[in-house]
Amino acid sequence: MNPPPVRLVVLLSGSGSNLQAILDATRNGPLSAAAVVLVVSDRASAYGLERAAQAGVPTLLLPIRPFAQAGKTREEYDAALAEAILPHAPDLIICAGWMRILSPAFLDRFPGRIINLHPALPGVLAGKDSLRGTFEAAQRGEPVPTGCMVHQVIAEVDAGAVIDSEAVPVAPEDTLEAFAARMHAAEHRLIVRAIAKVLGLSTR
Ligand code: GAR
Repeated sequence: MNPPPVRLVVLLSGSGSNLQAILDATRNGPLSAAAVVLVVSDRASAYGLERAAQAGVPTLLLPIRPFAQAGKTREEYDAALAEAILPHAPDLIICAGWMRILSPAFLDRFPGRIINLHPALPGVLAGKDSLRGTFEAAQRGEPVPTGCMVHQVIAEVDAGAVIDSEAVPVAPEDTLEAFAARMHAAEHRLIVRAIAKVLGLSTR
């Protein structure tokens, strides 16, 4: 009998192309020992929810607005997020385009089990809009290394231990769109590789 699959929960806020790469890798790919058991979004418009539904994966929409309107704090939102995820017993939580900073109210519930994909290299540009930020800096001739990384999530933004990274150089004739397309292609490889690495699975 096969062992039960490793349980992945994916957090996202947008298109979910990286979720798609993960889903594809769980179907007879390098992540076939794992299954995405829940996809969570803070945004109703996130196309990633649709991708999950198409793959038959349960989804949870947890927008911040009702919490804010009720005068609740970011920590209360994060605690509710953790409570909603806990019954799904995740072995690994993957932030793949999740655009909210997670506080210890969430992080402390899943110690060492949360990773984040970020479109910049270690120590370069933390936070939002890093893809555009590093592209524009490179175009201005600043010596910024460009690429993407997957790291452990800690309370300090985009600063946890790096699991893997991939360089995506800016070419002189690049447009932002062309650079973004290459970045996303690199991310799709990287996220699968990083999950396999954390789970101790071979990608060969
Ligand atoms: C990816 O480029 C990811 O690196 C970025 O959001 C995009 C999501 O794309 N994440 C961050 O900027 C987090 N700071 P997707 O929705 O198509 O997977």
